[in-house]
Amino acid sequence: MNVLDQTEVVNSKTKIKPVVAVTMATSRQGIGVVKELSKTDKYQIRAITRNTKSAKALDLVKLNNVSLVTGDLMCPKSLNKAFDGAEIIFGNTTPTKGWKIFRGSIVRNYEIEQGFNLINQVKIAYKKGTLNHFIFSSISKPKDPLKSDPAPGHFTSKWDIEEYIKKLGLKEITTILRPVSYFENFENKLPGYTISKSIIPGIVEKNVKWQTIAVEDIGKWVKGVLSKSYKYKNQSLNIAGEELTGQQMAKILQRIVSSERYKTNYVMIPRIAIKLLEYDIGVMADWIERAGYGANMNELKRIQNDLDITPTSFEDWLKSKLIADRNQNRSWANKWKSSQWELQLDNNR
Ligand SMILES: NC(=O)c1ccc[n+]([C@@H]2O[C@H](COP(=O)([O-])OP(=O)(O)OC[C@H]3O[C@@H](n4cnc5c(N)ncnc54)[C@H](OP(=O)(O)O)[C@@H]3O)[C@@H](O)[C@H]2O)c1
Repeated sequence: MNVLDQTEVVNSKTKIKPVVAVTMATSRQGIGVVKELSKTDKYQIRAITRNTKSAKALDLVKLNNVSLVTGDLMCPKSLNKAFDGAEIIFGNTTPTKGWKIFRGSIVRNYEIEQGFNLINQVKIAYKKGTLNHFIFSSISKPKDPLKSDPAPGHFTSKWDIEEYIKKLGLKEITTILRPVSYFENFENKLPGYTISKSIIPGIVEKNVKWQTIAVEDIGKWVKGVLSKSYKYKNQSLNIAGEELTGQQMAKILQRIVSSERYKTNYVMIPRIAIKLLEYDIGVMADWIERAGYGANMNELKRIQNDLDITPTSFEDWLKSKLIADRNQNRSWANKWKSSQWELQLDNNR
């Protein structure tokens, strides 16, 4: 096992492969980024986590070229050490704190503090002369900027961090990737609104076009952008894999399970329930319906070709999730009557 603690810092000049420091490496995004970069065999990856002993961290360190490094976005000193000697930094922040009644778990200022700590340390790493590319993962800007207000707090926090990148003069070495909602959100555990053969649960009206992405595709984007670093620095990109209405998503699932007696429906989680549980997600649902995510799907096709990215389709994501869940005997696949599901998948392969 290759676990670096805070006192052990790699000097990239003595290594052949450039060091990539990945913040929040155990997050859904972070895991995708680490996995994609590990596959290339081109980088030494420092997976930064607050807890190098967690199950997720221990899974990451089994991958090629990955070391675990302790780092907390709330602790600048730990970031300073984790970034030392890195040529590339992938930065991500989280608005999620412990859930509290009347507050939920999303805390805008918590994310801003992490972001400012992150950018200050990126600046220090840049001044040292080793860092040459910073990728910041933000969130998609709106399709219709005139309808953006009020925007969710966990969106404006990320956009404020983007402004701070500019303010510190880091724009030229930075690529800002702005993903839209993850497909993985459909796997929520809300009773009555869990994904199954009969239900695609969503947060917006059934006829609203809604841009989504497989979280692992963010890793593909990071890998792609790094492969043409010279071209994609000083750029911001809203990134998405699909633009579908809830009804269209349900139709896709219906098609997959077509030989069965199930009728698949898109079911919208009541906005009031969302706002009671997590107010900012309710604001986000209003925002998606009103302003919408702003990825330019046609332009993205061109860039994906340039960067050799094959986006995961919603259909393929559904199929892969079902196979994985069935193999691991987990909850939502069980509800999908796995024997018939297997037949169906085999027919679709
Ligand atoms: N859900 C979506 O559809 C969506 C779409 C676009 C963007 N986003 C944004 O993507 C970001 C990441 O979300 P995610 O769902 O990928 O994350 P996640 O799976 O919820 O993981 C959060 C991770 O953050 C780490 N963490 C928490 N506090 C930290 C701190 N103070 N310092 C360092 N690490 C800390 C934890 O790792 P350790 O405990 O190992 O340190 C944890 O693994 C969020 O800002 C979210 O708003 C989400």
